[in-house]
Amino acid sequence: MQSVRAVILGFGTVGQGIFNIAQQRRAELREQHQVELVIAKVLVTDAARAGRALPEGFDASLLTDKIEDVLASGPIDTVFECMVGAQPAYDHVRALVQQHGCAVVTANKVMFAKHGAALRELAGAAGRQVGYEACVAGGVPVIKTLQNMKLVQHITKVEGILNGTTNFILTSMRTNPGKSYEATLAEAQAKGYAEADPYNDVSGMDAFSKLMILSELAFGAQPAWPEVPVVGIQEITAAKVAEASAQQQRYRHVASTELVTEGGQRKIVASIRPLLVDAQHALYAVEDVHNAVAVSTDYLGVVTLMGPGAGMYPTASVMVEDWLTFVQQNKLKSGSA
Ligand code: NDP
Ligand code: HSE
Repeated sequence: MQSVRAVILGFGTVGQGIFNIAQQRRAELREQHQVELVIAKVLVTDAARAGRALPEGFDASLLTDKIEDVLASGPIDTVFECMVGAQPAYDHVRALVQQHGCAVVTANKVMFAKHGAALRELAGAAGRQVGYEACVAGGVPVIKTLQNMKLVQHITKVEGILNGTTNFILTSMRTNPGKSYEATLAEAQAKGYAEADPYNDVSGMDAFSKLMILSELAFGAQPAWPEVPVVGIQEITAAKVAEASAQQQRYRHVASTELVTEGGQRKIVASIRPLLVDAQHALYAVEDVHNAVAVSTDYLGVVTLMGPGAGMYPTASVMVEDWLTFVQQNKLKSGSA
């Protein structure tokens, strides 16, 4: 039996989901993969905060609000990073990789859009990997799929719904005409979809971070950030939604990145904006918290993936998958599989 020691940075919706899955799948991990995931330390902002809700079976003595405690918590094989924002998340992860040579699994798309390339280089220098499936489209396996497609396909365009909260709100505004925007947003937060500060969700900035990650993966580069128009859903009123419904149309918040050739030069053109679609459009039927990503390639045409774009278990489960993939690859490398 291999024991893998890991730390979790951030213990909200996603971080607690990782702990719960590790508990729920403990026997399967042992029996099928001969591995035990040991959580050595968990970082939050204020470990002494009164009334903190913790998952059943969690040892509260693992909580700390000092990164020094995490760094000193013995050998660490993997860091699960599920904090909010680029900093101090990136500095913490970087320090852990530098000190422990650990693998990284992150859900933090703001951090990864900005520092992903540097982080992958740093981890690579230590012979380790970075898993970031959870950064884009929650439980929809778009990163793995693009990584695989890229082995042979030339990707020309990636387009889709990348934020679960906005799709949930737009769906709810149409199906519950009397319900207020505030009540719907509060429901999205209670379900663990929306960020604690939902500005990035509704302004389109969350989808922007995800789109930059997809651009980098699909085309090897991100477009210049200031050149990407980002329009949120704030201007979509109940009246506009009702008007669209009367025309058998629906609002979708669509992020798109495309490789185009202009004057002989290849260029990435990206945008994030609400779009009115009719029943013939591929995104018309994507409802509630679901995300969808349509990938255009030379050999395949268009391949569309759809599924839950946010929430505790869709997100945390793909992080545990990233981790387990690394464990299996390391076993193969060491010949102990
Ligand atoms: P939460 O707000 O529920 O949890 C965030 C956690 O991070 C909290 O435990 C918080 O501490 C901790 N934290 C935040 N800032 C710091 C800091 N400076 N130092 C130490 N700890 C800190 O967020 P989620 O779990 O929903 O999301 C986590 C990450 O995953 C985000 O980057 C989010 O964008 C991403 N994500 C979320 C998804 C979702 O469906 N919720 C889906 C995909 C990605 P404390 O508990 O003390 O407040
Ligand atoms: N707040 C994000 C969303 C979480 O609603 O899509 C998933 O990244």
